[in-house]
Amino acid sequence: MRLTSLVAVTATLITAVSAGGRLGFSLGTKKPDGSCKTQQDYEDDFDAIKTNANSTLVRGYSASDCNVAQNILPAAKAKGVQVMLGVWPDTDESFNADKEALQKYATEEFAKQLYGVTVGSECLYRGNFTGEQLLDKINEVKRILPKGVKCGTADSWNKWADGTGDAIVKGGVDLILANGFAYWQATPIANASATYFYDMASAIAHIQTVAGGPEKAPEIYNGETGWPTTGGSSYGPAQASTDDAEIYYSQSICGMLTWGVNVFMFEAIDEPWKPDSVGQNGQSADEKHWGAMGADRKPKFDLSCKPV
Ligand SMILES: *[C@@H]1O[C@H](CO)[C@@H](O)[C@H](O)[C@H]1NC(C)=O
Ligand SMILES: *[C@@H]1O[C@H](CO)[C@@H](O)[C@H](O)[C@H]1NC(C)=O
Ligand SMILES: *[C@@H]1O[C@H](CO)[C@@H](O)[C@H](O)[C@H]1NC(C)=O
Repeated sequence: MRLTSLVAVTATLITAVSAGGRLGFSLGTKKPDGSCKTQQDYEDDFDAIKTNANSTLVRGYSASDCNVAQNILPAAKAKGVQVMLGVWPDTDESFNADKEALQKYATEEFAKQLYGVTVGSECLYRGNFTGEQLLDKINEVKRILPKGVKCGTADSWNKWADGTGDAIVKGGVDLILANGFAYWQATPIANASATYFYDMASAIAHIQTVAGGPEKAPEIYNGETGWPTTGGSSYGPAQASTDDAEIYYSQSICGMLTWGVNVFMFEAIDEPWKPDSVGQNGQSADEKHWGAMGADRKPKFDLSCKPV
């Protein structure tokens, strides 16, 4: 895209943003050894996230996996934290299991802790659903949630920017999460912040335009962003490095919050149990080293977003 277009989308966004974005973290359902987290484990995670990053918001990807809804909502209530849970619409089995877990555990008692529910994670990106099909699934889940709990979906920034998700925006959902990883675009750290801002500006500007203006748009979050630390896999010129992850955090994540956009960092805590996955370049990629904190819940660098 030409630079003039970038300036145009950036200008659109700047008119829309408020004083400061809200920071949240993706949080896994398993302990370092791969067993399921208990309510106490989530409480300990929340203490670490609050202390180290002054954040009171986390997101998960399921409601039924490891009984997450059952265990995390009482922990969130005990610690004054809010949670976004997920539903996997990909198969009937996962869709029904997550819906049942929400019906059983996402009760009125926890309506204040359950900030929202995302139906699907990058389903449009993988091509598993059209926008219309996913909108139907979102509406089906919305009907079973306590009043006030927001419902929407999370997808890659480019699927919002290119119009694949337009039916969802026009369908009047409450929440849209746009994921953006300069790392997975094989960006060297020196240009990572520019790439990330471009991605988010493009997605947000398109969503706001399709909605008929910023004030009519759903609530928007950057649903995932982050950078792997030393020990993780590099992706072309994007190097796994704790120093680079710190630069990414202070320039990109803190910068996006300052710009007024809500951000979920992927992820709160390392997940050493995770098997390697095959990356878009066909190479095996480590997914164990994306945490702002290590598996011991100690921060890898300063997470306070102090002005520099
Ligand atoms: C922590 O966040 C709250 C509200 O989100 C804010 O009022 C407070 O100043 C923050 N504290 C620090 C130490 O940044
Ligand atoms: C979703 O799409 C991916 C990529 O095309 C495919 O591998 C996967 O099997 C699909 N999942 C379902 C449940 O259809
Ligand atoms: C840096 O990022 C911008 C925005 O994505 C892109 O237009 C530009 O080509 C990138 N430059 C380099 C050297 O990668």
